[in-house]
Amino acid sequence: MAEPPLVVVADPIDREALDRLRRGPCRVVDASADPARLGEPLAEAWGLIVRSRTKVTAELLARAPRLELVARAGVGLDNVDLAAAEARRIRVVNAPAAATTSVAELTVALCLLLVRDLLPAIASTRGGRWERGVRGHELAARTVGFVGYGRIAREVARRLGPFGVRCLAFDPFVATTADGTTLVPLDRLLAESDIVSVHAALTDANHHVLDAPAIARMRAGAFLINVARGALVDEAALVAALDEGRLAGAALDVFEQEPPTRPALVGHPRVIPTPHLGASTEEAQRRAGADVVAEVLQALAARSPTPLAPTAASGGTR
Ligand code: MLT
Repeated sequence: MAEPPLVVVADPIDREALDRLRRGPCRVVDASADPARLGEPLAEAWGLIVRSRTKVTAELLARAPRLELVARAGVGLDNVDLAAAEARRIRVVNAPAAATTSVAELTVALCLLLVRDLLPAIASTRGGRWERGVRGHELAARTVGFVGYGRIAREVARRLGPFGVRCLAFDPFVATTADGTTLVPLDRLLAESDIVSVHAALTDANHHVLDAPAIARMRAGAFLINVARGALVDEAALVAALDEGRLAGAALDVFEQEPPTRPALVGHPRVIPTPHLGASTEEAQRRAGADVVAEVLQALAARSPTPLAPTAASGGTR
């Protein structure tokens, strides 16, 4: 009798989800503790589960001749070569809603940290000083502009409503909103926003959507938040705008290279850097694990002797 299909787990996923997978009609190899161990099981893998550490390149797919399913335990699919997967009729699934609340809450926290200028106050108090001078502003009555208005940005807007914030959004894929957020062209958003918050999925078309000219069009003294993908923002241009005092600060959870390679940005006194942890809450990871394992089990149940048809998988951190 043929052996059950092999599912290889390349990146750490939620423990309960892994246990659920192990009870499924498949063999499971957990290679997440040691990426060097991925090679051998890949040759036999029917399914591959990744988070963001493993890059599912055409070269990796070539090492997995029997692969029929890639499951991304997260939102963005920019670490998967979708064209190469489609060419091989490998189905790609993800967990698009798993991290929405976590990333939205992080964004609200970053808005407050930036506008109240809290980081220097925390540092000086820790340093034994007691500096009670006036600093920062209220979030109330500020304008927040979302670059990308998908699931996560809409949840941020919903949470900012009670703060009395005016919300603008630029998103070429969204035609209308019914939540009080005003859709505007990018130039108007940049000119009117006190905080520009980036939430777009990364595609070839929007690399450096916030390039030097776009950053130059932001209001003097505005803040920039990026919790989506680092390559949406030109980091060199951002450092220049911060150095020149044109922007008041930035909060970045994502970087062009991860881990980041630009000390002038990560160490900048006006930058709050975090290590791409928007989706790294227990709740979001539990959901992401459960969602992708459910997809894998469903695909196993529907498995036929012929390869599965490709799905139109797309997306990113939205
Ligand atoms: C996502 O796309 O899900 C997030 O950026 C977090 C992650 O990569 O796990």
